Amino acid sequence: MPTKIEKDAATGTDTTGHEWDGIKELNTPLPKWWLYTFYACIVWGVIYTVLLPSWPTLSSHFGGTSGWTRRGELAETLAAQKAGQADTRAKIVEMSIADIRKDPALMGYVQAAGRVAFADNCAGCHGAGGAGAVGFPTLADDDWIWGGEPEQILQTITYGIRNNNENSRISDMPRFGADGMLTKEQIADVADYVLSLSGTQADAAVLERGGVIYAENCAACHGEKGEGMHEMGAPRLSDAIWLYGGDRKTVIETITYARRGNMPAWIERLDPATVKVLATYVHALGGGQ
Ligand code: HEC
Ligand code: HEC
Repeated sequence: MPTKIEKDAATGTDTTGHEWDGIKELNTPLPKWWLYTFYACIVWGVIYTVLLPSWPTLSSHFGGTSGWTRRGELAETLAAQKAGQADTRAKIVEMSIADIRKDPALMGYVQAAGRVAFADNCAGCHGAGGAGAVGFPTLADDDWIWGGEPEQILQTITYGIRNNNENSRISDMPRFGADGMLTKEQIADVADYVLSLSGTQADAAVLERGGVIYAENCAACHGEKGEGMHEMGAPRLSDAIWLYGGDRKTVIETITYARRGNMPAWIERLDPATVKVLATYVHALGGGQ
């Protein structure tokens, strides 16, 4: 087929010289805007690969002349965040929980960091949001075994309960049945008496016997009217909140064997700022006292 390049009369554009059945193919040039964008992209591409990490080499890659990387940027952001937090955390360690509570910015940090630290370290025993479980007290109410003042909560969390730390909270309810301090009948009577403190009815004679046993053996820790005692870690017995259960069988079991639950000293596992954050967070959870 002959290839003859000529001008197309209608458009003024060259033909490619291809012709089929009298139809000639035009060699229309690319639009200028397209062409220059294309060249600009090539130039930009070259500059980009020179400035930034780009070409792979055998062992690593060409790092770019500017030295900038996203990783570097991330590291810088993290460092800046840490520096910002270090300031906040130092303040939290220094300040009293009462003062932290008055500072909205610090409380914002406490809520965010506290929720995470609580989920990581505490929720396993105390339940999500401090809802509690049998043997693990609810932290989201204002009933406190060891006290709900900010500094009492901080002390409980820092040194824990019945562990080897020298500052641990310590108090052991006697094993009245297992150690033969009370007979089965006496335990049954005092159990009925204890239940009557929260409104359960029982025989008057039983309550009288139970009341005497209670006054002699229990009131020193649980209080004369079963109001509980924070220094002894003795729960209030005159309400409907039970750590181990308020049915007769469970109460008898508690009096017979005691329970002696324990909690680690968190200062041995977490840094002081995190412990303080948690104490402030828990205090806010329960409304504290
Ligand atoms: C291994 C289980 C366990 C873990 C984990 C645990 N606790 Fe406890 N915690 C207990 C037990 C058991 C008690 C109650 C002991 C008792 O007084 O009989 C308790 C009691 C408490 C109390 C006292 C409640 C009151 O009414 O006075 C606070 C506050 C507390 N825990 C906070 C925390 C925080 C904060 C964490 C996380 C850092 C945590 N606990 C993790 C087992 C645990
Ligand atoms: C030395 C202090 C002490 C004495 C005395 C004591 N308790 Fe306790 N009691 C505790 C502590 C501490 C607990 C928390 C559970 C545990 O650690 O065993 C407790 C828990 C209980 C509970 C469980 C409460 C719940 O919420 O589940 C009952 C019931 C109870 N005591 C009844 C008695 C009775 C009845 C007597 C007397 C016969 C008595 N206690 C004497 C310290 C004492």
